[in-house]
Amino acid sequence: MEIVQLGSETLRQKSETVTEITEGVKKLVSDMFSVMIAANGVGLAAPQVGVLKRLFIVRVDDGIRRTFINPQILETSEETEPSEEGCLSIRGVWYTITRPKRVKIQALDENGKPFTLDAEGPLGRAIQHENDHLNGILYIDYADADFRQKTIEQFQRRAARREEKLAIKKAKSARIAAKNANKEGR
Ligand code: NI
Repeated sequence: MEIVQLGSETLRQKSETVTEITEGVKKLVSDMFSVMIAANGVGLAAPQVGVLKRLFIVRVDDGIRRTFINPQILETSEETEPSEEGCLSIRGVWYTITRPKRVKIQALDENGKPFTLDAEGPLGRAIQHENDHLNGILYIDYADADFRQKTIEQFQRRAARREEKLAIKKAKSARIAAKNANKEGR
């Protein structure tokens, strides 16, 4: 399981409702927790691992693993608050954006049990950030246009470099394979 990066189409698509909490969905949730914790993240949404399902996970400073399936934001406070955000799909970039201070959300947990939660602080922020992912929205969309454009370009260059490296690697292994085939021929 890999976390896709800015520039990937998946990040801009709208995810679909989870119709049934199957073993596959439970496995997805548990794999997502492993990947997120390994990456030192506090939240991860299914589209970030290439799965267009309305599901995300959060684990903030309190260490509690929270799973939100088919979440619905019921209320957000009028009061807003600025805070620095990052995203595992926009690695190495942080920016201060303003969001509602409090949020009330309803969702199903990993066992399909409905719950409602009022959250603020890091948890409230993570919930709003991850819920946006299910609608193809990224936190840079709330940032200054210059910053957003620069970040998009930075990731385009990163992707190009990655592709270039991959092409070199492919060409190299093709040469080695040809060489070996030649040797065997002799
Ligand atoms: Ni994110």
